[in-house]
Amino acid sequence: MKTGAVEINRIHHGDSLELLKLLPDSSADLVFADPPYNLQLHRNLFRPDRSRVSAVDDGWDKFDSFLEYDDFTRAWLLECRRVLKDTGSIWVIGSYHNIYRVGAMLQDTGFWILNDIIWVKTNPMPNFMGTRFANAHETMIWASRLRNAKYTFHYQAMKGFNDDLQMRSDWMIPLCKGPERIREEGRRAHSTQKPEELLYRIIMATTNPGDLVVDPFAGSGTAAAVAKRLGRNFIAFERELEYVDLARERIADITPLNVPLLEYRTERRLPRVPFGNLVASGYIMVGERLWSADRSVSAEVQADTSLLCDGMTGSIHSLGTIVSGRERTNGWSYWHAEREGALLLIDELRKEYRKRHQC
Ligand SMILES: C[S@@+](CC[C@H](N)C(=O)[O-])C[C@H]1O[C@@H](n2cnc3c(N)ncnc32)[C@H](O)[C@@H]1O
Repeated sequence: MKTGAVEINRIHHGDSLELLKLLPDSSADLVFADPPYNLQLHRNLFRPDRSRVSAVDDGWDKFDSFLEYDDFTRAWLLECRRVLKDTGSIWVIGSYHNIYRVGAMLQDTGFWILNDIIWVKTNPMPNFMGTRFANAHETMIWASRLRNAKYTFHYQAMKGFNDDLQMRSDWMIPLCKGPERIREEGRRAHSTQKPEELLYRIIMATTNPGDLVVDPFAGSGTAAAVAKRLGRNFIAFERELEYVDLARERIADITPLNVPLLEYRTERRLPRVPFGNLVASGYIMVGERLWSADRSVSAEVQADTSLLCDGMTGSIHSLGTIVSGRERTNGWSYWHAEREGALLLIDELRKEYRKRHQC
């Protein structure tokens, strides 16, 4: 399967500045980018026992100046924005070394920032020199392609994920260690392999099964690996051949989850049943009075399904808003009908209607 000239579900070897150009406009649903951080490490770091800290000092992370880094960042962001669908969004992860420059550039290139998520590392590396605070987090900026766009966000799933509490913007996740960390001859195969847990949340929250996820800086292929497991398509680019091989091997071992497991079941919305259906089918009669819970307000149902109260008319929602004096009122939870001498919320009548009509 291909999009434009680029094969889908493959780690491609090359420079993403060139390879992104091969993707058609509006073809991707999500970009996850873990670009070079431009860490500017100029000397080796040692622990108190004089052992050398294995830091990110790779060639791929070196830029001569901030200006060069900014030009690079602008170029790939513009390409990502071009390939994203209007409903698409982008995640960029970075540290204090680069994330502020990336954030400004995201805004300058037309993206609309939705959140910055703090990845709090539960097992961070200490500050061995004792000269600064221990750097225990990274920042992920989530932005939509357009302002006011209808981007994908699985709010309910994220809430369920978080034990029914709204998911917040601080995520406590350990660094990638243990069996998940890919090693070659005992050494970490990639210096910045991200935890799958991080990508699991991102992909579950902001894409749908079958969506296309693009990762311009694949490294060990974490985003592609999680995308494949979660039944999403991916295209990943990586400049260093050794990492391309590593990521391809990693991906080959992954079996996607069965499709039924990928459904967002907590989000299945009930079909819309408008108030008019209840009136037209006789669940609520034309000429009947509807009441507020304390019976202080009542309104008469009209044949056109509007409500009439003291010369004011409107829908169940708009009239409910006026007479309740609230900023906004949902008529389904404001108006009651009288049944067998007691007041019954009209939403209860709607439930009966749904049950009877199996909708
Ligand atoms: C921060 S690492 C990504 C790590 C990855 N998220 C993971 O979990 O393994 C950035 C990667 O981008 C690659 N890279 C840097 N510049 C690139 C470019 N212009 N095109 C493609 N890959 C590039 C580097 O070789 C490096 O592997």
